[in-house]
Amino acid sequence: MTLFTSKLPNTKPSIFTVMSVLAQKHGAVNLSQGFPDFPCSSELIDLVTFYMKNGDNQYAPMSGVPELRKQISQKFEKLYGITVDAKNEITVTSGATEGLYSAISAFIRPNDEVIIFEPAYDSYRPAVELNGGKIIPVKLTFPDFRIDWEATAQAISERTKMLIVNFPHNPSGSVLEQEDLEELVQLTKNTDILILSDEVYEHLVFDHHSHRPIFQHPELRKRTLAVYSFGKTFHATGWKVGYCIASKNLSKEFRKTHEFVTFSTNTPFQKAIAEHLKKPKNYLDLSSFFQKKRDHFNQILMDSRFEFLPTKSTYFQLANYRQISDEKDTDFAVRMTQEFGVAVIPISVFYTDGTDNQLIRFCFAKESGTLQMAGEKLIQI
Ligand SMILES: Cc1ncc(COP(=O)(O)O)c(C=O)c1O
Repeated sequence: MTLFTSKLPNTKPSIFTVMSVLAQKHGAVNLSQGFPDFPCSSELIDLVTFYMKNGDNQYAPMSGVPELRKQISQKFEKLYGITVDAKNEITVTSGATEGLYSAISAFIRPNDEVIIFEPAYDSYRPAVELNGGKIIPVKLTFPDFRIDWEATAQAISERTKMLIVNFPHNPSGSVLEQEDLEELVQLTKNTDILILSDEVYEHLVFDHHSHRPIFQHPELRKRTLAVYSFGKTFHATGWKVGYCIASKNLSKEFRKTHEFVTFSTNTPFQKAIAEHLKKPKNYLDLSSFFQKKRDHFNQILMDSRFEFLPTKSTYFQLANYRQISDEKDTDFAVRMTQEFGVAVIPISVFYTDGTDNQLIRFCFAKESGTLQMAGEKLIQI
């Protein structure tokens, strides 16, 4: 008897799980998975505790606690000059992952094509495939990881239903420029193509660069669903609270799926985050905080044989190991964990065809001591 055939036959445990398990087994410094090893704000923890003790422990409204939606809307207005209707255009989700899944599930039908840009974050493909859609991968340019607009235009067909974009970009840290938004307008004009914009690293942008929310462009606004993550913003990836911003029309449809995937996101965390957002410093300081970490990590490794690619955003640093080895990146990453005691992510796993540019990804969202310890091991290699 065959009880079932897998709907995701090619899906294996994610590389993040694999490398974290390997790191633990070998007692390696874990610079693989994207999460901080330092605590989140004690003020925020006190707020969560307060709301729990206050009895705010029952279901939140399906679309999110009104105060949180109001604070998100005010943040958007202040930061980007975008007016967002808190009641109809913002939905609080259980992490960005749920936002991505619900957006894909709400709009993708069997045989619809979804364009993703590779290297791509790993949750897009299974969400599309579970809904019967087909992934059409388009490679970002190398080594600057920008969208290749000609290749994208060629990938579009009458079946294309959605483009998934992720800037600030994991794993490369590249950002969208104004001309990219104009290209996106031209590409999608007179079509019914939706844009799903994964902007979880919106506050982690460095130097003179800035984040351009796709929603900011009036032409793109009507076709865009944008997802965000408080886990990334407040050093609390385990809390799984995020949100989705989309027009009233798209949000109404999005909520039909969100309601039956999770119904609502936990109440005390939403209330605490709403309070925390009232102080813009709590998110505005993030870019200088992480820029210092990036610079510290770069400095420690200045004399190593790794070649760092410039990182404009996120908390990831790509490095080339050409001067050390000509192994496949997956083999090199495993060997780094086992032999050298530092766990990293190989970049080929973010490509459908396994493109191997001999790059690995370090996560530098770590205490100075952790970065120093990793650095001491890495300069020996
Ligand atoms: C690009 C990207 N999108 C989404 C997520 C998931 O966000 P969350 O933890 O809020 O579900 C991550 C987490 O690493 C990410 O890197």
